[in-house]
Amino acid sequence: MRPIQMVDLQAQYQRLGAEIDARLQRAVSQAAYIKGPEVAELESAMAEGFNPLKASETLTTAFPHLSQPLHALGVANGTDALQLAFMALDLPPGSEVITPAFSYAALAEVLFLLNLNPVFVEVNPQTFLVDVDAIREAIGPKTKAIAPVHLYGQTADMKAIMELAAEHQLYVVEDCAQALGSQYCSEGLSGYAATMGHIGCTSFFPSKNLGCMGDGGMVFTRNPELALRLRALANHGQEQKYQHRYIGLNSRLDTLQAAILLAKWPHLADFGSRRAAAAKRYDEALSGHAELAVPARSPLSTHVFHQYTLSLQNPSHREPLRQWLAAAGIPSMVYYPTPLHRQEAYAQALSASRGRCANLAMTEDLCQRVISLPICPELEAEQQAFVVGKIREFFETFG
Ligand SMILES: Cc1ncc(COP(=O)(O)O)c(C=O)c1O
Repeated sequence: MRPIQMVDLQAQYQRLGAEIDARLQRAVSQAAYIKGPEVAELESAMAEGFNPLKASETLTTAFPHLSQPLHALGVANGTDALQLAFMALDLPPGSEVITPAFSYAALAEVLFLLNLNPVFVEVNPQTFLVDVDAIREAIGPKTKAIAPVHLYGQTADMKAIMELAAEHQLYVVEDCAQALGSQYCSEGLSGYAATMGHIGCTSFFPSKNLGCMGDGGMVFTRNPELALRLRALANHGQEQKYQHRYIGLNSRLDTLQAAILLAKWPHLADFGSRRAAAAKRYDEALSGHAELAVPARSPLSTHVFHQYTLSLQNPSHREPLRQWLAAAGIPSMVYYPTPLHRQEAYAQALSASRGRCANLAMTEDLCQRVISLPICPELEAEQQAFVVGKIREFFETFG
């Protein structure tokens, strides 16, 4: 049995190395290292591949962008993608953006940096996705945007979020760093994650479902004006060379990373299916266990299982379980041990009235209970059986 890793990038390279090497070789020999043809090729492939969308007349009337074709813009990383999204929206300083507290820090960090104020809300403890009722309750006079996070690999309830946004005239920015390829499907709105809000952002961090060999990210929008502004902002604010219309960033997707991504891109759906098959095997082995809950599926989304996250009945089991697994050579992770509103820097900002949050007891509780198991397209049934055996053994010994 191969050693178990959270994400086995070596095994993936063994499987797909020939395709990746061929793409890389071509890009290296062309020597167009900055803004090479691979970047535009990847942008077109993704804009086309993720374009399919169905929206009700009510939603398209409220949001004309929903009937427009998708644009994709390669950028330096997922955090830049989020920063560029909020730079492009150009919200007044102090505007509030509603986002879940149970998430990665990048989005909150970007908001604080841009003098925007996050309003942290709860997630659903079963699906881990942002709670739409909590968003509704959090909307205030300064609220200008909602930023759902498609956590762990499934899409938040975009129809409900877009309806709320229409009612209150808000922007929607999707953080899709963990759910590229996930499909949302409800009566009245269906489409790929990152392509339904005004702007969608993703990351190609190596361990992501579509990962490069360094940093990379992509911004999506169906709004043609936002597409132009985003492209300029990511290129020092230039629409034309040496004409700086905006104060921008230098945020480019590297040509070599784009070449690697072009080799992997045709496999994205297969990566998702393999991850989902692995998740099903974990489910079959672990559901019904008294000490833990397996991850719930949203009825409105496919799940591409960026993470397979269990929720433990008794939080005090988590550290000993992690140590027990580590002693058997099994890595595990906690995404995330500290909710955003409790992070030192953000808590200070909140106490200086930069943003706000309601009571987030559910999020705080989840941060104590969650544990993510190894999952990736290359994970083998034999490896999973070993992981499951060790988990069972732990609870038989200490449960
Ligand atoms: C939910 C979420 N948002 C944003 C990011 C930021 O992406 P990057 O690391 O490419 O900047 C990540 C990456 O871990 C993430 O998981």
